[in-house]
Amino acid sequence: MLQQSQFSLEDCYAHWLKAALQDRDEQNLRPTARDPYLQEVVETAMEKWLYPCSSLLDIGCGDGLSTLRFAKGVRQAVGVDFVPRYVEKAKAHQAQAGVANADFLKGNVLDLSPIRQRFGTFDRVTTIRCLINLNSWDNQARGLREIAACVKPGGYYLTSEGWRGGLARSEPPPGQGDFSAHPGRRIQLDDFPGRLRSRSAPIF
Ligand SMILES: C[S@@+](CC[C@H](N)C(=O)[O-])C[C@H]1O[C@@H](n2cnc3c(N)ncnc32)[C@H](O)[C@@H]1O
Repeated sequence: MLQQSQFSLEDCYAHWLKAALQDRDEQNLRPTARDPYLQEVVETAMEKWLYPCSSLLDIGCGDGLSTLRFAKGVRQAVGVDFVPRYVEKAKAHQAQAGVANADFLKGNVLDLSPIRQRFGTFDRVTTIRCLINLNSWDNQARGLREIAACVKPGGYYLTSEGWRGGLARSEPPPGQGDFSAHPGRRIQLDDFPGRLRSRSAPIF
């Protein structure tokens, strides 16, 4: 039997509400991506699978910097985050960068139906450390079903979720916010039929 993690979804939301109050932490790192080198590796690896594509949805986009990077070469990029302040930060970064083909709005990976109603489905859907914020396998599976419903047939879902070393202080709460809370459980994309193909890049 899998153990329910100790933190609640409300704890998690409170964590990110507070984190969003600052652009940089006391070590001058972005609270949403405290390891800049790892972030670069992840974004570079994802980019190889992004293009060419027409539409991209980045879920749990935080301050939007990855979404804006991914928007290059995509007709339309959409970033969603459940913390309104992150949506505002992402819009501010967008204005600063002068990127025209991105939209940022509030959205929760546990219910992406408003996003689908507005934008339809996407060629590429990405999450970088978003599902790790969901506190049980049931919620992670629910998130994956929502994501699967957002991917166009033949499209890709690209994700990087499962690390904790070095980032323990940034994830809510330390040491529990990742898939390792569920030893032995592996994501079977075949559990999400019709939309997701069981294919992964070796780097992930
Ligand atoms: C570790 S940060 C990563 C941010 C961004 N993906 C990046 O790589 O810079 C996790 C982000 O996921 C958001 N998040 C957590 N749970 C979420 C949920 N249920 N739905 C949407 N966003 C969520 C948080 O607000 C936070 O911005």
